[in-house]
Amino acid sequence: MDKFIIKGGKKLSGNVEISGAKNASLALMPASLLASGTSTLLNTPELNDVYTMIKLLKHLGVEVSFENHVLKLNTENIISQDAPYEHVKKMRASVYVLGPLLSRYGTAKVSLPGGCAWGPRPINLHIEGLKKMGADIDLQEGYIIAKSKRLNGAIINFDVSSVGATGNILMAATLAKGTTIINNAAMEPEITNLAEFLVKMGAKINGINTSTLEIEGVADLTSSEIETIPDRIEAGTLLIAGAITHGEIKLTNFPGKYLTSVLSKLEDSGCKIINSNNITHVDGVNNITKPSDVTTAIYPGFPTDMQAQWTAYMALADGSSTVTDTIYLDRFKHVPELVRLGADITVKENSAVVRGVKKLRGAKVMSTDLRASASLVLAGLAAEGVTEVLRVYHLDRGYQRIEEKLMMLGADIERIEGTEF
Ligand code: EPU
Repeated sequence: MDKFIIKGGKKLSGNVEISGAKNASLALMPASLLASGTSTLLNTPELNDVYTMIKLLKHLGVEVSFENHVLKLNTENIISQDAPYEHVKKMRASVYVLGPLLSRYGTAKVSLPGGCAWGPRPINLHIEGLKKMGADIDLQEGYIIAKSKRLNGAIINFDVSSVGATGNILMAATLAKGTTIINNAAMEPEITNLAEFLVKMGAKINGINTSTLEIEGVADLTSSEIETIPDRIEAGTLLIAGAITHGEIKLTNFPGKYLTSVLSKLEDSGCKIINSNNITHVDGVNNITKPSDVTTAIYPGFPTDMQAQWTAYMALADGSSTVTDTIYLDRFKHVPELVRLGADITVKENSAVVRGVKKLRGAKVMSTDLRASASLVLAGLAAEGVTEVLRVYHLDRGYQRIEEKLMMLGADIERIEGTEF
C-alpha cells in the first residue's frame, strides 16, 4: 500500500490537463458488450477502477488493448455472462454489465455489490427496472440471476434519480423490443456521454440530456468509437487545490459547463473564476476564504463526489459553514481524519458543521474511500508541516497519478511505494 508525504503550505499555480472521466469510462466500457466487434474509447483514464473493469470484461471474453488512453474492446468472442464476486466486491460499477449482458445474451449472473465504506448503496432500481422489461430475476447466494427472452420496452419511473440505474436500463433498452421511457432519468454528463456512444452504435434515443429518455429498441448494434468527456470531479478537486492554497490554476481542457455549481460556490467563497473556450481558471491569490454552505444534489447541483473536498476547503474558511449531503447521508468518513489535522467539524445527521480555523497542522491520516482521500490531500497541501496520507490506493481508484499533476503545480508531495502502512 502506498502513502503520500505532503509538505504543506505551497501555493499551487500553473496549467493542468484534466483526464477522462472515471464514471463515464465505467459506463462506456460495458456498453461495448451490446455489439459484436471492436469499440474504441478515446481519452480513457489510466485508473485502478478502469483496470478493474478491464479484468471483468476480460473474464467475460473481451479482448482488450489499452495504450495512450485509447482503449479497444473486442467483443467478438464473449464466453461468459457471469460477473463474479471477486470483481464486483472491488468496484460497485461492475454491476453495469448486468443490463448489456441480459439484453444481448438473455442471461446474466452478477454478484450483488453489498455495502460501501460510507453506508448502503442499493441497486433495487436496476433490478425493478429490468423486471418491468420482462426479466426474470432471482437473488441466490449473493448473486443476481437474471434471465429473459428479448426484453420488452416499458415505462420506468424512477423514484430516485440514479446514475447507475439509468445507465443500466438505458443500455438494456437499446436492444429491447419496442419503446422504453425512463422518467426521472439521471442527467449527469457521464450518462449523456454513454447515450451519445449508444447512438453512435446505432441505438435510437430521444431526450438525451434531459430527465426523460425515450429509447426505441433495435435488433442489433454495431461497435463504434467515442471520446470520453473530461472528469468533472478531478477538475473540481484541482480547482479546490488552487483555492485552498491561495494559488491560481488553469484547467486547459475543461469546459466549466460541467461544474457550474462548484464554480459558483468557489466564487461565493471569494475566488475569481474565469471560464471560457474550454478553459477553466481559478484565482484564489490574496483571497480570504468566505464560508459558503453547500447541499449536494443531482446534476447540475453540487456533486456528492465533491462534498469531502469542499469540507476540507471550508475547514480553513473565515467563519462557519454547513455541508449537507442529500445523496449519501453517511458520507462523512473524512471528517474524523480532517479533525486530526486540526479542523473543527462536527457531524449531525447528514450535515457537517464546519467552523473555520486559522491553520491546519500536518499529521498522519488514513484514507477511507476515494473522495475522502482527495479531501485529506487537499487539507495536507494547505496544512503547516508534514501530512502523511495513508492507503492512497483509494485515491488511485479514481485519480490518474494526481501527485504528478499536483507536483507540476508546485506541491511538495511524494509517493512512498509499496510498504504496509
Ligand atoms: N439509489 C437507490 N436505489 C438504486 C440506486 C440508487 O435508492 O437502485 C439511491 C442511492 O442510495 C443514492 C442515490 O440513489 O442515494 C443516487 O445513487 P446513484 O445510483 O446515482 O449512484 P451510483 O450510480 O451508484 C454514481 C457514481 C458515484 C456517485 C453517484 C452519485 C459511478 C460509477 N459512480 O454512483 O461516484 O457518487 O453516482 O452521483 O458513476 C465516485 O466517483 O466517488 C462515486 C462514488
